[in-house]
Amino acid sequence: MTKLVAISGSLRKASFNTALLKAALTMAPEGVEIVEGTIRGIPLYDADVEAADGIPEAVARLKDLAAAADGVILFTPEYNNGIPGVFKNAIDWMSRPPADIPRVFTAKPFAIAGASPGNFGTLLSQEAWLPVMRTLGTVPWFGAKLMVSRAGTLIEDGRLIDEATERKLRDFITAFAAFVEQYKR
Ligand code: FNR
Repeated sequence: MTKLVAISGSLRKASFNTALLKAALTMAPEGVEIVEGTIRGIPLYDADVEAADGIPEAVARLKDLAAAADGVILFTPEYNNGIPGVFKNAIDWMSRPPADIPRVFTAKPFAIAGASPGNFGTLLSQEAWLPVMRTLGTVPWFGAKLMVSRAGTLIEDGRLIDEATERKLRDFITAFAAFVEQYKR
């Protein structure tokens, strides 16, 4: 069984990115399991808090999920042409302590997708993730692109309602899962 973990970088109830993630959960090919990881409950990174209390529970849970997965999919929103702070904050926490980076990130395939109501579908935030992925020693997957633009017309009440986008998402998940399966061997 190939295990993927999918994480949305939005806390918003009606998030387009969480809607994409939820749709992806239903599209796992045979022999593949996709579980949802959440950034909810992760506090702002503070080295003093880390020194005093260690890694917060919500962070430890997400780290364990990523560590147990064969691959990770980030569904990233775009804020001001970059990575939303809450999402970067979660990954920064997950990279602590540095000695644990190999368990969670090193040589792990990562796919990046995203949705925005604008015309460019998170193009720039997906780009902005690349140096982060490189620094953490992940294996970023470039086999397909999924930049969902004008998401307000494709997602309604947290549900993906557009067949073409559904197809693209399914193809993206299928291709990434195939890569991860091959990479595992
Ligand atoms: C945005 N949004 C946005 N969209 C975009 O395509 N490019 C951008 O640079 C920005 N910048 C931006 C900054 C800030 C502070 C906010 C709050 C929003 C709009 C953004 O894509 C929209 O709010 C999405 O709905 C966020 O993703 P979720 O929450 O729907 O997953």
